[in-house]
This record gives sequence, structure tokens and C-alpha cells, in this order.
Amino acid sequence: MKNKTILIAGGAGYIGSHTCIELLKANYEVVVVDNLSNSSEESIKRVEVITDCKIPFYNEDIKDKRALHRIFQENKIDAVIHFAGYKSAGESIDLPLNYYSNNIGTTISLLKAMKETNCNKIVFSSSAAVYGNPKKLPIKEQTTLLALNPYAQSKLIIEQLLRDVHVSDNNLSIAILRYFNPIGAHNSGMIGESPLGIPNNLVPYISQVAAGKRKFVKVFGGDYNTVDGTGVRDFIHVVDLARGHVKALDSLWSMPKFLISNLGTGRGYSVLEVIKEFEKASGKNIPFTILPRRDGDVAESYSDPGFAEHEFGWRAEYDLKKMCKDAWYWQKLNPNGY
Ligand code: UD1
Repeated sequence: MKNKTILIAGGAGYIGSHTCIELLKANYEVVVVDNLSNSSEESIKRVEVITDCKIPFYNEDIKDKRALHRIFQENKIDAVIHFAGYKSAGESIDLPLNYYSNNIGTTISLLKAMKETNCNKIVFSSSAAVYGNPKKLPIKEQTTLLALNPYAQSKLIIEQLLRDVHVSDNNLSIAILRYFNPIGAHNSGMIGESPLGIPNNLVPYISQVAAGKRKFVKVFGGDYNTVDGTGVRDFIHVVDLARGHVKALDSLWSMPKFLISNLGTGRGYSVLEVIKEFEKASGKNIPFTILPRRDGDVAESYSDPGFAEHEFGWRAEYDLKKMCKDAWYWQKLNPNGY
């Protein structure tokens, strides 16, 4: 039987590229479309080396209907995984129109192309940002939703849009995955997170301090009601996260369904705990300074990962030590990213 072909929208990015590897390992074929707005084609070339597979790659914006139509004509697409979106919560406050038009526009464009070609399975990248400031921990999927910025709101709107489309067409199978904090890299050290400019997220920043590219880590907030006063997050190895996509996708073939699942480890670590673990992994001293809280940050966030295990048999395997080890190996081999 011919392998199923998955269109990976945003497949050259951090999570997309790791997911391509796990899909290929699970005997899916992948086709990647990415406009390279926050990624590099080099990641795909490296995925080809790691997997020894050839990946059809389209440098296109999926909001371009003609380009997308051509991709669906040239390939028999059995399912879509949709990573193509802007992802900085802070930036979204300054550029709300960009976030709404891009994140929602890409989704509508994909859904229309899928409908035209009778492709009826999609996995969508959502975010734990949809939980806002959670009142109860660990966070379950039924927790009240609250978007604190346009980025999170765009994810919520898309979740609702997907629900509406599923109601209109019960044959459409949909998995919405709410990610906690992906970090780490593929253990080959060949692909990883490659932020442009000054990193917004914690671990890319720590990596650059360990590498001597930045002087110290700015720890945003030391007075939270947490284990040591710094923010607590559910950090998850990006390879675990990628495998979560494969498992969720696998579960869509048996019958049409609409599911929403957290992808996290279920365990929180503080900013200082991550810095300490990274010091061990890298053997470097990592200076830091405690600064005021960052606007929009919550004190503590970690998932209840039980639904993913129950629904599609996925659970994160890697611990913080492995996450830091792999992040550091990637940083060492690629001091300037791709
Ligand atoms: C952020 C986004 C979230 C998005 C996710 C994508 C915000 C408010 N949230 O999550 O919507 O889905 O990235 O990966 O931007 N920290 C420092 N110093 C730093 C950077 C971060 O102390 O230089 C702290 C933060 O205050 C926080 C923790 O580290 O307590 C994690 O921050 P970060 O890596 O930016 O992730 P989130 O803010 O949780």
C-alpha cells in the first residue's frame, strides 16, 4: 500500500522540521510548504540528510490560493499539519492586524484547498497561551479559555473556526494540539531553534549566554508565588512534541473526529531551575539578573497531559536534562543558527 502523504505547512520552522523527521520515521511521506518568513530552507535540507529522504519543498505563502492549489494538484495530499503562523505574543500586541490576517488567513486558505480536493484530515498547532492566566493547575483541556494578547486570540478564533467547519462537515477529522513550552533540539545537533535577532524565549536566550554571545540572562520576575519566585513552565522536548503530532495524526484515520489535546509533560520547572540545568549540560557558568516581571507573563503554567495518553497513546519521554543537553549541542554546532 502506498504511504500516506502529509502536507506540512510551516514545515521549515522549529517544530515543523522536527515533525517532518518523526513522520518520515513513521513511514509517512511529507511535502513541505513554507514562505520562510521565520525559517530557513536549510532546515529541510538537513532533515533530508538525517532521514535520507527527499522532501518536495515549496517556497510559497499558503495564503496565495493559486500556489496552494498547485501544491494540491501536484501531490495527492491525504492530510495537513498546519504550523504556518506568527508566534510571538509580545509582537502580536504591536502588530495585531498581521497576526489576525496571517494566522487566520493561512488556516482558511488551507481549509478551502482541502475541501476542493476532498482532503479531510488536519492537525493544527494551537498553544497553551489560550488558557491565559490559569486558575487551577495542572491545566486540563476543559479549563476556561482566555486570550491575553492577539496571538492567543488568533489561536482561539482558529480553534472555533475548526469546530464550526467540523460541525458543517462531520467527515472532517481535526486534531487541535495546545503546546506548552517546546525547547531542545534533534539529538544530531543538525536542526534546532534558530531565532532571528534577540531571542524572546528563555532557552534560546540561555543558550546564547552559555555560548558567550550575550552577557547574562534577564530573569523576568523574582517575586512570583512559585518555588523560587521565578516563573514556572511546562518545558517539553521538541522531539516529544513532534511525536505527539504523529500519534494524534495516526488516530485520525480510524474515524472522523474532533479532538483538542494538550501537549506537555505535566511537570513545571522554574526559570532558575532551567538555568541551573543548562549550566550542568553546558559546563558553563550562566550569569543572570532578576528584573521586573514581563508584561503578559503568568506565574505558573503546566499541563495535565492525561488526555493525550488516553486518546492517542502519547506521553512525553524526555526530561529537562536531555532538553538542555540537546539544546546546547545544537547551539555549539550552530553558533549562528542556520
Ligand atoms: C511564549 C509566549 C507564548 C508562546 C510561546 C512559544 C509570551 C507571553 N508567551 O511563552 O504565547 O506560545 O512563547 O514558544 O510571550 N523568561 C525570562 N527571561 C527571558 C525569557 C523568558 O526570565 O529572557 C521567562 C519568562 O518570564 C517565563 C519563562 O521564562 O517565565 C518562559 O518564557 P518564554 O520562553 O518566553 O515562554 P512563554 O512566555 O511561556
